[in-house]
Amino acid sequence: MMSNGPKPASLGQPGRPSGVVGRLLGHVMARDNDPMNALAVECLAPGPTDRVLEVGFGPGCGLARLAAAAPQGRIDGIDHSELMVEAARRRNWRAVESGRVAPRLANVDALPYEDAAFDGVMAVNNHQFWPEPVAALREVARVLRSGGRLVVAIRARSPEGRLRYDGIAYDGAAQAALRAELEGAGLVLRDEVRRLLPRVLAAAFVAERSEERPLGG
Ligand SMILES: C[S@@+](CC[C@H](N)C(=O)[O-])C[C@H]1O[C@@H](n2cnc3c(N)ncnc32)[C@H](O)[C@@H]1O
Repeated sequence: MMSNGPKPASLGQPGRPSGVVGRLLGHVMARDNDPMNALAVECLAPGPTDRVLEVGFGPGCGLARLAAAAPQGRIDGIDHSELMVEAARRRNWRAVESGRVAPRLANVDALPYEDAAFDGVMAVNNHQFWPEPVAALREVARVLRSGGRLVVAIRARSPEGRLRYDGIAYDGAAQAALRAELEGAGLVLRDEVRRLLPRVLAAAFVAERSEERPLGG
């Protein structure tokens, strides 16, 4: 199925941070996006022993939050930026050394994990960069166990349009497209949570890999 979603945002630095600018951007992301990570982890609500994947972890604050939420679990992460993999490893070095957190270089299009490997998956602020969102979501669904949850957190445009990131936030049509993509990938949308955070109106789309429904083909 072709996506009817918005055209992917051009990658640029936010889509694949690198070099000095990418390093600076990593600090900005850690500051501005961590409240969204907190919301996404709250919506994912992992169990203490769950195995969870974060897609597009950037500077790695979300990995740290997931590790705290699943203290006997295992947290995997992929990002296609070498710089962000290094940054996430540094930020989570203790948990990386103990093998509880495992950030690696990979693309959402080809996740280096077995089918049904994860209890939960989260992706914060990176769905807009996926060139083939339905194919990517189908790949995410493949690694989710039956009944496992996916949380996709995005910036939603605020009604007043005056928040810092409103210029690049998802409008109503882009949010409708995301719902259709989740459906197209065979996932079932269970909830949508909106929260006004510093600088951003965040929206978390909570979807489930259902027992009954085969993956979208
Ligand atoms: C705007 S940053 C957000 C990082 C973090 N989730 C946050 O909210 O602070 C987007 C991240 O997604 C990663 N990314 C974008 N497209 C990706 C893809 N197709 N596969 C893997 N990672 C991707 C980028 O390298 C970048 O680190």
